[in-house]
Amino acid sequence: MSAKHFRIAVGADHAGFLYKTQIAASLRELGHEVVDFGTYSTDPVDYPPIGFKVGEAVGRGEFERGVLVCGSSLGIAIAANKVHGVRAVCIGEPYSARLSRQHNHANIICFGERLTGWEMVVECLNVWLETEAEGGRHERRVKELDDYDQTATAARGESE
Ligand code: RB5
Repeated sequence: MSAKHFRIAVGADHAGFLYKTQIAASLRELGHEVVDFGTYSTDPVDYPPIGFKVGEAVGRGEFERGVLVCGSSLGIAIAANKVHGVRAVCIGEPYSARLSRQHNHANIICFGERLTGWEMVVECLNVWLETEAEGGRHERRVKELDDYDQTATAARGESE
């Protein structure tokens, strides 16, 4: 169980609604502050707007972490990763959960409700919340990721 308490943004499409609801409840029980960005039922909705909303909230620094769920984890992670400062990862086992924090400083974890069993999700989430980011070469590489879209945008502007 994680000793640190975070501000955590959660979100899901209809295919991740059940896990998202359970995850929000578990995180609150652990003492984290959780804000739920929807969706709020199993009625079909598109995953991109939810991924963008949670991504923006985390990217702006209003939340230290985010948790997203869709059917596969894939689409909602792609959406969140469009946002500057977001490092969203698709996770289905604990070793990747640990590495995504140590090496990639992941700030959003994404689960696939149609792919990963509930107990595995809980294990991955606990590992991910407990694992610290490592510095040194990893810090430099993560900075390269975060700098890229700003640099690329500036370069595009100059060539126009
Ligand atoms: C919804 O059917 C499904 O496509 C979505 O939840 C997600 O898996 C997309 O990547």
